[in-house]
Amino acid sequence: IEDLPPMHETTDFPMGVAIDSRETVGAAAQLLTRHFNNITPENHMKPEAWYDAERNFRPHDQAIALMDFARTNNLGVYGHVLVWHSQTPAWFFQDGAGAPLSTSAAHQQVLRDRLRTHVFAVAESLSDRYGPFGSATNPMRAFDVVNEVVADSGEFSDGLRRSEWYRILGEEYIDLAFRYADEAFNDVHAVAGADPVTLFINDYNTEQSGKQGRYKALVQRLIARGVPVDGVGHQFHVSLSTPVANLGTALAAFEDLPVIQAVTELDVTTGTPVTQANLIEQGYYFRDAFRVFRTYADDLFVVTVWGLTDGRSWRVGNGAPLVFDDNLRAKPAYHGAVDGELPA
Ligand code: G3I
Repeated sequence: IEDLPPMHETTDFPMGVAIDSRETVGAAAQLLTRHFNNITPENHMKPEAWYDAERNFRPHDQAIALMDFARTNNLGVYGHVLVWHSQTPAWFFQDGAGAPLSTSAAHQQVLRDRLRTHVFAVAESLSDRYGPFGSATNPMRAFDVVNEVVADSGEFSDGLRRSEWYRILGEEYIDLAFRYADEAFNDVHAVAGADPVTLFINDYNTEQSGKQGRYKALVQRLIARGVPVDGVGHQFHVSLSTPVANLGTALAAFEDLPVIQAVTELDVTTGTPVTQANLIEQGYYFRDAFRVFRTYADDLFVVTVWGLTDGRSWRVGNGAPLVFDDNLRAKPAYHGAVDGELPA
């Protein structure tokens, strides 16, 4: 591991990285614990990850590996995700015969109950093992309560994604997800009187004006209804052609709301082939993006990169999106992020 300044010591906000259990051992773990003080489970806490084929909820080994790793190394955990349209067991949305739930009052109640049961099962399994949220032995600090609920186009007046959650319950499922999460993570399974788990809404393309407007309108409605949403997440899956200024505009758009913000899934594709020139350009991109993030430091819960090394990125096919290469060496992107020296 190179002897370089830890990323999290160069920022006034925590630095996070999305991982799976592979990064909790060996040299990758050393690199991670040097540079980051927060982790997000890339896949291990998604709804479907918690259930076996017989639909039984169980606190599975990989989620435990991440929590143990965080506790041992004094890292925070940003949970991902309680409610999503993707990577969710199909039976959530089916009746006993395997047919889609209808929008009858009875079927709506079935889905509300499943939502509540799921949220409480996650909270209970993590607090049984690690102590109540807010205690010294429990590293959980935040959770994406709902992910990607905003529509990609402007065709719907409420601006919401038409998912199975939405089809059956309408906008109400978002309110319920936050209310159940607040009850489970910040009350029933928390240290008395504490409010330890910051509850986020999270979405992508929030650096684009249309999505951003729909996202903000939703968050404003939630706040107006007294829904316990604490934080607004910006995924920021961007490329070298995304103007850095747009990242600042996205953060600025939510500054007047009573929420904290987070950059939750940052990666910056270079395009292919990956060349020395575009890696350097990417270094300047990270420098400029992190300069923007530093100006919002007081508003940022965490800035998380979506993977430790390029080869582990879901976007590696679009060219080297992260700050460390597959030999665990710092790229120009690292030097940009810490505002260090960059080649001309
Ligand atoms: O674990 C299985 C493995 O057993 C199997 O052999 C293999 C064969 O395909 O699949 C493995 O699962 C894959 C999983 O990643 C773990 O590597 C899934 O197929 C694959 O679909 C899954 O992709 C993840 C994707 O979410 C799923 O939608 C990516 O790793 C993950 O980075 C990505 O993360 C999302 C965020 O949750 C939400 N925002 C967007 C972001 C990028 O798509």
